[in-house]
Amino acid sequence: MKSLKFAVLPGDGIGPEVMDVALDILKATGERYNFSLEYEEADIGGIAIDNHGTAFPESTHRICQASDAILFGSVGGPKWESLPPKEQPERAALLPIRKAFSLYANVRPGLLYSELSEASPLKTNRIPNGIDIVCIRELTGGIYFGQPKSTYEENGETVAIDTMVYKTSEIERIAQVAIDAAKSRQKKVCSVDKANVLETSVLWRKVVTEYFAKHAPDIELSHMYVDNAAMQLARDPNQFDVLFTENMFGDILSDEMGVICGSLGMLASASLGASKNSLELPFGLYEPSGGTAPDIAGQGIANPCAQILSGAMMLRYSFGENDAANAIENAVKSAVTSGSRTGDIAFGNQAISTKAMGDAILKAM
Ligand code: IPM
Ligand code: MN
Repeated sequence: MKSLKFAVLPGDGIGPEVMDVALDILKATGERYNFSLEYEEADIGGIAIDNHGTAFPESTHRICQASDAILFGSVGGPKWESLPPKEQPERAALLPIRKAFSLYANVRPGLLYSELSEASPLKTNRIPNGIDIVCIRELTGGIYFGQPKSTYEENGETVAIDTMVYKTSEIERIAQVAIDAAKSRQKKVCSVDKANVLETSVLWRKVVTEYFAKHAPDIELSHMYVDNAAMQLARDPNQFDVLFTENMFGDILSDEMGVICGSLGMLASASLGASKNSLELPFGLYEPSGGTAPDIAGQGIANPCAQILSGAMMLRYSFGENDAANAIENAVKSAVTSGSRTGDIAFGNQAISTKAMGDAILKAM
């Protein structure tokens, strides 16, 4: 029997409770699809600061290094908000782990079942069939990581600088990810930039255009300025299929995409890098998009779907278990659309617990 080796980093807030349910579902899926789970748990984020004095401890890094994927909960919370920004869990755990494993491709599906369309802040007549798009975001370049990056004194005042940098090779490798995503969808990519202002965007547009012409002439490529894209996403999200962009634009647009898809409790994500094993599938970090939700942590009422769907993405991308991934995604859809719902998506249905939501999904499977 195939054994899937991954690191489990539940993190803070609702992370551990939704992770428990996700692991139960992965185990049950393995029994049916003939794989076993070989995972090791480690601290990340606030809990790692408490236990090890740092948000991304060396011991956690080692466990991830020895794995083929990382199933991630979420990090951060009020307890650590008074720390200097650079030491806070989000910046001191998430950004370094992305960089440490070169997780350059962030894949965020924006999926809203039509049955849940009232969860969206958009008028339901704009999204009669729900929403189904995906955002491909470059994750290890751009203004997040460019140098120089500092705060200094000059002529009696404080000055801060961030630098936006892109290399051709960085743009080409993420372009390939957008192409791969488009192939299994509507073969349509909208590349988002600010080429009317930014040098990095002029390069982005040129490289993307040439790369697609050479490697994916059958994919329909369009370009859009980021301000317009933000507007179009709110006006008519389904005009997009694959939304493809650089790091910071992707950060902003993927949050907008998240909110129009209703509950963050439903949105999974994958951050992918190069393969580092004999499976030749991407190493990846899989995490829900919703964060630690400190207001409801510990109450057993959080929506586990995003964590479960992140687990499904892990099966698909890092382990090639497509049938098992599809089975989980179908089971989540069928449980939710037939009325099993946590509070964030209840809308008049009775709100059930995290654990009960997991049981409903298991039953649907
Ligand atoms: C995200 C988050 C992170 C980012 C933060 C927490 C560093 O907002 O994953 O989108 O900006 O990338
Ligand atoms: Mn973000």
